[in-house]
Amino acid sequence: MLKKIRIWDLPTRLFHWLFAFAVLGAIITDLLEEIEWHSYCGYTALVLVIFRIIWGFVGPYNARFSSFIPSFKELKQFLKDHQVQHLGHNPLGAFSVIGILLIVLVQASAGLFTDDDVSFQGPLAQYVSEDIVKLMNWIHETNHWLVYGIVLLHLGAIFYYQRVKKENLIGPMIHGDKDVGADKTIPVLETVTSKDDAKIRGLAVVIVIVLAVLFRYYVLK
Ligand code: HEM
Ligand code: HEM
Repeated sequence: MLKKIRIWDLPTRLFHWLFAFAVLGAIITDLLEEIEWHSYCGYTALVLVIFRIIWGFVGPYNARFSSFIPSFKELKQFLKDHQVQHLGHNPLGAFSVIGILLIVLVQASAGLFTDDDVSFQGPLAQYVSEDIVKLMNWIHETNHWLVYGIVLLHLGAIFYYQRVKKENLIGPMIHGDKDVGADKTIPVLETVTSKDDAKIRGLAVVIVIVLAVLFRYYVLK
């Protein structure tokens, strides 16, 4: 029998699409040399990434790092035997999620200390030495290749699952649900529903508001 299971709670889904928009926005505004807008996209991505890290500890089941970061044994098992359906992120997906979050965290944090020597200075550049600003410029410049790489890898992997493996991952990231039990020959691991009620959504709103206020007063003062 087909059963719908809530995989991605609303805060995780909203996080995903806003985050994608902010990171792609930072890339596009850089190409257009709109540095002011570039910084706004970067600030948004940074606050969202910090939210997602917190959500990885306090959010519902499938959003939690502990539910999807695999042990070495689980990864080996996954690579050997693909015939197990993972409802949340699979072990390889888990590494790419952690990779994206860390790479964007480094990129946006370094951005706060950059100085383009022409018209723009990151909001924290004035508090550190010239050497640190140089180092952060270098990190921001070098790490952007990792941002490009991981975004391309992510889009490629989603395309592969969608077109080649015929597994729809995009739908659940929009409406939140996955159907379980359509193919009885594939065993499903851990059919745990993610809580997605008003209380958990309210908690996400509180976390985002607190982060935005702290960011406004401590970073953009
Ligand atoms: C998602 C976050 C971000 C991404 C993906 C991103 C991406 C980029 C990329 C691709 C470049 C061009 C690098 C190059 O061609 O060498 C760049 C330059 C720059 N970014 Fe970011 N950035 C982010 C966040 C930020 C933030 C938060 C700030 C500051 C508030 C910032 C300030 C700058 C500045 C000032 C430059 C020009 C550096 C120069 O020309 O010397 N960025 N960024
Ligand atoms: C517009 C094109 C995009 C599509 C269609 C898309 C689709 C998806 C899908 C389907 C998932 C869930 C994967 C799974 O089931 O394991 C996912 C996860 C994720 N994507 Fe994207 N994505 C897009 C763009 C981006 C961009 C530009 C970024 C930022 C670099 C990004 C960052 C992430 C992150 C961090 C996750 C993990 C979500 C979480 O657990 O919170 N995505 N994406």
